[in-house]
Amino acid sequence: MAFIFLLTEALTNPLFDVIASTSRVDARAEKLLEEGLRLIDLRYQVQSSVDAAERLQWVPKLEVKDWLERTGALLQELDAFGRQFREWRDELQGPCLFLLTCGCPMLSAYRLGTRAAQLHHRVQGYIEEGRHLGGVAQPPPLLPVEKVPSFTLRIVGRQDTLDEIKSCLGEDDPARVIGICGMGGVGKTTLLVEINNSLIGRNTAGLVEIKNSLIGRKTAGFDMVVWATLSRDFTVERLQRDIAKRCGLSLPDGDDGRSMQRLLFDFLSTKTFLLILDDVWTDFDLVEVGIPLPNHENRSKIVFTTRSEHVCSDMDAERRIQVDPLNKEHSWELFRTRVPEKLLDDPSISEHSEWVVDACGGLPLALICLGRTMASKRSAGRWALARELIRDSPTGLRGMDQVMYSLKLSFDGLASDLTRICLLHITSVFPHGQAIVEEQLVISLVQGGPLRDKEAGVARQRGYNVIGDLVAEFLLQTCTVDGTNQVKIHPMVGIMALHVAQQRGLMMPPV
Ligand SMILES: Nc1ncnc2c1ncn2[C@@H]1O[C@H](COP(=O)(O)OP(=O)(O)O)[C@@H](O)[C@H]1O
Ligand SMILES: [Mg+2]
Repeated sequence: MAFIFLLTEALTNPLFDVIASTSRVDARAEKLLEEGLRLIDLRYQVQSSVDAAERLQWVPKLEVKDWLERTGALLQELDAFGRQFREWRDELQGPCLFLLTCGCPMLSAYRLGTRAAQLHHRVQGYIEEGRHLGGVAQPPPLLPVEKVPSFTLRIVGRQDTLDEIKSCLGEDDPARVIGICGMGGVGKTTLLVEINNSLIGRNTAGLVEIKNSLIGRKTAGFDMVVWATLSRDFTVERLQRDIAKRCGLSLPDGDDGRSMQRLLFDFLSTKTFLLILDDVWTDFDLVEVGIPLPNHENRSKIVFTTRSEHVCSDMDAERRIQVDPLNKEHSWELFRTRVPEKLLDDPSISEHSEWVVDACGGLPLALICLGRTMASKRSAGRWALARELIRDSPTGLRGMDQVMYSLKLSFDGLASDLTRICLLHITSVFPHGQAIVEEQLVISLVQGGPLRDKEAGVARQRGYNVIGDLVAEFLLQTCTVDGTNQVKIHPMVGIMALHVAQQRGLMMPPV
C-alpha cells in the first residue's frame, strides 16, 4: 500500500519532526500507520482463507465478501491520505515556500490531523469487524445432480439403449433396481455418464435442477441424483463415505459403520433419489450401507453397471439391460473417428484395416485404442506389423495393453481357477469370433481338456456350468444360429486368453 511508504518516509524526516511537533498530526498519522498495517495483515489472512475455500468449491459468505470490498475501499482512502500527507510534508520542507505560505501548512496540519483521527477510528472498526467474521465460507450448496466428467467425444450407435435406460427410470416404469451389464470396455459407464449429465437442467433463477422431462414418458421427480463408483476394490465403508460426501454429510474419521449407516439412511429416507452405482463387482447389502431400499412409496431408483449377470441377479435387479458390442457399421463409424480418412481409403491398407476392425469385435474400447495407434501408421508394412503384434504379442502394441488390462480384470475376477483354465483351453482350441455349438465346447473340455479326470456325468455337468459362468461374466458371447443358441469367443477375449496362456506356459493340446 502506497500510504505506508509515504507515511513512513514523512514521519522519519527530521525537518518534519521539528515542524510537526507543534501539532498532533504526527502522532495521529503514526497511529494510523500502525492500525493500517494491522488491517492489511488481517485482510490478507481473510483473503487467503477465501481463496483456499474457493479452491475447494466452497462459497464465501456474503458478509465476508462485503468486508473485503469495504476494507479494499478504505485502504484506497488511506493511500489518498498518504499522498496528501506527503504533499504537505513537501510544502513544509521548502523553506521559501514555507515563509510565503506561512499559516497555511498549519491549517492543513489541522485538517490532516482530523482526517487521520477519522480514518484511524474507521480502521479500528474494520479490524474489530474482521476479527469477528468467523468462518469465511460455506460448503457448496447441495446440487440435485452433479456433472460427471465424460471422456467420450461422441457416443456412437447407442440411442436405443439410452432410450431404454431412460424409459426404465421414468415414474411409470415399475422397475426400481436396474442392472446394466456387458463385457469390460463395451461402454456401460459411458451410457450412465450420458444419462447423469443429460439430467442437469437449470431453473429460471439459473439454479441447477433435475431435467426430468428427459426421463421416461412421465417425469421421474427425483430430488437428487447420486453417482458413486465402486470398482473391484469396493468396501462398504468407502461407499458410505462417497455417498455421504455427495450428500454434504460429514462423517467423523474412524467412526463405526453403524452410525454412518444411520446417518445415510436418515438423510436418504427424506429424498426421492436416483442412485447410480458404476462398476459393481460383487453384490452387497444396500441396507448395511445405509441406502433405503427403493420402493413405490419413496419412488427412488437404483441403476448400476456390472460385468456380471450373476451380480444383476444377486443385487435383485428387476430390469436387466445388456450392452452388446457395436455392430459392424457402428464399429467402422467409431474407428473412423480416430483414423484419418486418407489412410482408410488407401487400397494397400484396406485389407489390414478390415482385419483390425474385425479383431476389435465391436468393442468400443478396442476400436478407440487401436484407432489411435493405427492413425500414425502410414504404410501397409506398418499396418501388417501391427497386425502381427495384436495377434501374437498384444501388450507390445500401444493401446492394446489397455484393452488387455481391462479384459484381464474380468479373467482374474472369475470365480475359480478351474473356470479360468477352461477358458484358456477353449480359446486355444476353437476359432475366435465364430459360432460354436455349446455341446462341442463341453465335449472338448471333458475329452482331453481340463475336465478329463472327472467322472463322465459329473464332468459334463461341470462343463455346462463353466460355460454358463463364462457367458454370465461376458467372457463368452451368446448368439443364435438357425434358431439354436450357440456361443462365440470374442476376438479380443481370445487374444487376451492366448496371451495369458503363453505367459503361464500353458499351451492347450488340440482335441
Ligand atoms: N458408444 C460409444 N461411442 C463412442 N465411444 C464409446 C462408446 N462406448 C464406449 N466408448 C468409449 O470406450 C471406452 C470404454 O467405455 P466404458 O464406458 O468405460 O466401458 P465399460 O464401462 O463398459 O467398461 C471409453 O473410452 C468410452 O469413451
Ligand atoms: Mg465402466
